[in-house]
Amino acid sequence: MSGPAKPTLLIVFHTQSGRTGRLCEAVARGARREDGTKLVVRRAFDATAADLVECSAVIFGTPENFGYMSGALKDFFDRTYDATKDRTPRKPWAMFVSAGNDGTGAIREVSRIALGYGLKQVADPVLCVGEVTDEHERRCEELGHTLAAGLALDVF
Ligand SMILES: Cc1cc2nc3c(=O)[nH]c(=O)nc-3n(C[C@H](O)[C@H](O)[C@H](O)COP(=O)(O)O)c2cc1C
Repeated sequence: MSGPAKPTLLIVFHTQSGRTGRLCEAVARGARREDGTKLVVRRAFDATAADLVECSAVIFGTPENFGYMSGALKDFFDRTYDATKDRTPRKPWAMFVSAGNDGTGAIREVSRIALGYGLKQVADPVLCVGEVTDEHERRCEELGHTLAAGLALDVF
């Protein structure tokens, strides 16, 4: 017998040299600690408008490139905005960023776009500067768990 459908947490991320990928694994680990939420992880270039419409909440992950988000994540927003912007109001969102020395540009610009989609930010951005550390992974794991548990408990 199947119970009620679980809420779905979507992670959309890009990584070029692997750091954001490691952070993504930590976010996913945290999310998987919550049985009541289903997790879907997508590379930004592979993620679709349907992924965004069907999820209950979304976490974006990107490196900061040239003071902005990665082109891959921007491509995802460019491809999905028209088809989804009226179907995502108040959907909870959060983000994690890997940066060489800054990261604020990526956070600012993803936040502006999320506003355009009408998404509701439910956690502070997790900014990880430099090589991935245990502390970065801990904070990312906590981010994933916070979103997954919040969905399971319906607190957003
Ligand atoms: C083309 C390019 C541009 C970058 N621009 C920035 C930048 O503007 N600010 C910054 O803090 N780091 C910048 N970096 C460093 C990356 O954000 C950093 O190495 C990050 O950890 C890479 O993540 P990844 O391993 O997931 O690709 C840049 C790296 C590249 C390759």
